[in-house]
Parts: sequence; C-alpha cells; structure tokens
Amino acid sequence: MVTVAISASKPGSLTRKLPEAVTFDKPLDAVTILDVKKAIAAKNPKFYTSRQKLSLKGDNKALPDGKTLKEVGVTGNAELSVKDLGPQIGWKTVFVIEYAGPLVIHPLIYYLPQLFYGGPVQHSTLQTYVYAGVMFHFIKRELETLFIHRFSHGTMPFRNVFKNSAHYHLLSGLLLAYAIYSPTYSANSPWIRGTIRENPTFLMSCMGAFLFAELSNLSTHLTLRNLRPAGTTTRAIPMGYGFSLVSCPNYLFETIAWTAITVMTGSWAAALFWVVGTGQMAVWAKDKHRNYKKQFGDKYPRGRKAMFPFVF
Ligand SMILES: NC(=O)c1ccc[n+]([C@@H]2O[C@H](COP(=O)([O-])OP(=O)(O)OC[C@H]3O[C@@H](n4cnc5c(N)ncnc54)[C@H](OP(=O)(O)O)[C@@H]3O)[C@@H](O)[C@H]2O)c1
Repeated sequence: MVTVAISASKPGSLTRKLPEAVTFDKPLDAVTILDVKKAIAAKNPKFYTSRQKLSLKGDNKALPDGKTLKEVGVTGNAELSVKDLGPQIGWKTVFVIEYAGPLVIHPLIYYLPQLFYGGPVQHSTLQTYVYAGVMFHFIKRELETLFIHRFSHGTMPFRNVFKNSAHYHLLSGLLLAYAIYSPTYSANSPWIRGTIRENPTFLMSCMGAFLFAELSNLSTHLTLRNLRPAGTTTRAIPMGYGFSLVSCPNYLFETIAWTAITVMTGSWAAALFWVVGTGQMAVWAKDKHRNYKKQFGDKYPRGRKAMFPFVF
C-alpha cells in the first residue's frame, strides 16, 4: 500500500480543495503519475487530469504521466506538489482553429471585393493561382492535423488558441489576402500588366515549385507518422526523403512553398509571412536537431543539418 502526500505549489480555487494525500492498494512501482492525477480528479472532477502538473516537492519539473512513482524517485513518505495549468483545450482542436482562419478569410476577400476595396476586382491569373495555392495549403494542413499527425500531447492551455491563431489568422489570413486580392494585383494593374507576373511560364514555374514543396512536405509528415505506432508517444530517428539532409525537412519544404508565393507575387505581405514563419521554424528546427543528437547520440546520422542542407 502507498500513500502519497499532496500539496499545492500555488494557492488557487481548485488546488485549495486538494486531498491531503492519496492512497493506493499497490506498490510504488505499480502506481503511475497518471494514477495519482486520476485520484486527485476523482475527489474534485473540475480539476481534470490534463489541468494538473505534478512535480516532486521542491522541484518544478513536470513528472511524465506514464512513469511510475518509483521511476520518478518517490520514496515511502514522499510528497508531490500539484500545479493548476488552467483550462485546457484539445491539441488538435487548436490546430484546426488556426488553419480555419485563412480558409474563411481568403474566400471572403477573394469573392467579395466590393466589401473590402469598394468595387469589383478583375482577378489576374496570379491572384487566382495564389488563391488556389493558399486554399490547397490550408485544406492540406487541416487534413494532416486530423488524419496524419500523431501528436504526443493531448491538450494545451486554452489561452494558446489566441496566441497561435494570430500568426495564421492575421499574417497568412487577413494581411496576405487583403494585399494579394487587391486591385494592385488585378488583371489590368501596372504591377501585373506587361510584367513577368502575367507570364504563363513564370507563373507555372512558381506554382510548380509550390506544388513540389507541398507534396514533399506531405511526404515528410507521412514519414513522421510512420515512426510512431498509434497510441504511443515514441520518438525515432526519421530516415528517407528529405531527412538524409536535414532534421526538419518538413520546415524546409514549407519554407520553399512560401518562397514560391513570395517570388511569384513580389508582395511585402507574403515576404513578411515568410520571414516570421521561416524564423520561427528555424528556431524550432535548431532545438529539435539538438534534441535528436542528445537523445540518439552516435546513432544520429552525422552531417545532417537542422533545416537548410549543408548550411544550418
Ligand atoms: N508557415 C509557418 O509559419 C509554419 C510554422 C510552423 C509549422 N508549419 C507547418 O506545420 C507543420 C507541423 O509543424 P510541427 O512544428 O508540429 O512539426 P513537427 O514538430 O515536426 O511535428 C509533426 C508531427 O510529427 C511528430 N514527430 C516529430 N518528430 C517525430 C519523431 N522523431 N518521431 C515520432 N514523431 C515525431 C510530432 O509529434 P509531437 O506531438 O511529439 O511533436 C507531430 O505529430 C510543419 O511541417 C509545417 O508544414 C508552418
């Protein structure tokens, strides 16, 4: 039999109602952190398991759900502290909301120019291509979120919805759509007429590069999915297309896709989204690359870069 004392790391409305201890009819090596969370939630259902962060008393590190008390170093009369992470929302739900923004905003601005520019816009081929590309990209991301990605997290704090959505709803949604579907890029505008931006070879080359990058990005997402058996959170070394050169080819291909849109349009709005997105992915790629090397040591392929082949 095990009894674990529980205390709140910070006072709060939910942590005030914590049980002083939880008892199990099992040994230390048979009780998991998730069992402790479930026992706390059983006493106070509002404090559901994904809201709780458990740590060893005097430490701030979150204890993983799947580990047993013995594995995390809990001894006979140890105490665990619990923190309230606040209201949670499904991990997938946040991504679905993020990508839904551009999927609503682009059609609105493309099909209702009177509302946004005060009159009709005769769309150029470039505008039609960008519209098709953006819709393809975000529908693909929705489908990948729902049917391909095997995330290791179940939930995240609710407030993240706003922070995460701002990037897509404002930059690749409102800003990009408003700039590109404006009269500046319309069929008879001097920015288009008689320029390379209405040359079919140039436009098709840019769209070809975009499609190549999108399909390559999809391929890397399928590789990552196949690394993780369903229902697990295991991590393995990805191999194959793109991964022989960099740890995060999915980010590399995403960047190539938006480079194609930026070059095709010559738009500052597309360039801004490119800079912010690529900058963010480069930071993540650096961390992921370092973590791969730390986790897999000598087994990790030497010479593989983080995101840009042979460079970074
Ligand atoms: N344009 C932009 O501004 C921008 C910015 C960021 C992302 N994106 C797009 O969004 C896509 C997804 O981004 P992300 O940051 O979520 O990508 P990610 O971290 O590479 O993750 C993609 C999926 O693969 C899993 N995974 C990653 N490495 C794994 C491994 N070694 N073994 C097993 N599973 C692994 C992840 O699980 P976990 O849940 O465990 O991480 C996640 O489910 C990107 O590829 C890109 O196309 C675009």
